Amino acid sequence: MQTMIEFRHVRKRYGDKIILEDFNLSVEKGEFVTIIGSSGCGKTTALKMVNGLLEPTDGDILIEGESIRRKDQTQLRRNIGYAIQGSVLFPHMTVEQNIAYVPNLLNKRDKKKTRDAVSKWMKIVGLDEEMRERYPAELSGGQQQRVGIARALAATPEILLMDEPFGAVDEITRAQLQTELRQIYEKTGITVMFVTHDISEALKLGTKVLVMDHGEIQQYAAPGEILHHPATPFVSRLADQERRMCHLPEERLDECEFSGARAE
Ligand SMILES: Nc1ncnc2c1ncn2[C@@H]1O[C@H](COP(=O)(O)OP(=O)(O)OP(=O)(O)O)[C@@H](O)[C@H]1O
Ligand SMILES: [Mg+2]
Repeated sequence: MQTMIEFRHVRKRYGDKIILEDFNLSVEKGEFVTIIGSSGCGKTTALKMVNGLLEPTDGDILIEGESIRRKDQTQLRRNIGYAIQGSVLFPHMTVEQNIAYVPNLLNKRDKKKTRDAVSKWMKIVGLDEEMRERYPAELSGGQQQRVGIARALAATPEILLMDEPFGAVDEITRAQLQTELRQIYEKTGITVMFVTHDISEALKLGTKVLVMDHGEIQQYAAPGEILHHPATPFVSRLADQERRMCHLPEERLDECEFSGARAE
C-alpha cells in the first residue's frame, strides 16, 4: 500500500511547552483514520500540521513521499479539505456562495457548472435545494455543519481532515452524517483523518483508530484490535467505556454495531 501522509520524528512546541515529541505516523492511501485522545493531547495540532496551518518545530511531514515544506502551500491546501467543529461558514455569504468558495469549484466563465456542482454536493450531504439562498444564521447547527462538509468535499481533495465535525449536533443528525460520510469515503477512496471525542464514533467510522494521550501514540490499529487487544491501560479504559455503552458481555462483543465488522 502507498503511504499518503507520514509524520517523521515530528516535534511541536508552543513556547517552552512540548506538545508532540518524536511523533511518527504513517497513514496509507485510502485509509479512514479516526483520532481519539484526552483533551489538549495535541490532536488538532497534529491535524493542522498536515495542511501547513501549523509548522512542526522539528521533524517533517510528507505527503505522497514529498515533504510539505517543499510543496507550494496554496497547492497543498487545494488538495486537502479541512472541516472543523462549529460553524466556520462565512456569515455574509449564502449556502451556495459558501460551498462554491473553494478554488477548484469557482468557475467564473461557466456559472452553470458551478451551480450544478453546488447542487451535487448539497445533495450528497443531504441539504434541501431550498437552502441554497439562505445565510448561515438561517440554518440549524446540523445544517451548518453539512454546508461545512460540502465545502470541504467540493474541492474534491485527496485528503480530508476533520476536527470533531459532528461535535455540535444531536444524536440523530450525527448518525446520519456518519453514514453519509462513510458512503462518501467508500465512493471516493479519499484518505481521511478524523478527530473525535466519542469512542463509538471512532470505532464505527475508522478503518484505523489512533489513540493518543499526552502527545504520545497509545495505539494505532483497526477498531477490532483496539477493542479486543488494547495496548495500554488508557486504551483499555476506552474499550471498557465502549463495552458499557454496548451493554454486551465480552463474549458477545461482536454483536456491537461496528466491532468485528472491520476487524482484520
Ligand atoms: N497557539 C498555541 N499557543 C500555545 N499553546 C497552544 C496553542 N495551541 C494549542 N496549545 C496547547 O497545546 C495543547 C494541544 O492543543 P490541541 O489543540 O492540539 O489539543 P487537542 O488534542 O485538539 O484538544 P481538544 O480535544 O480539547 O480539542 C493544549 O495544551 C493547548 O492548550
Ligand atoms: Mg482539538
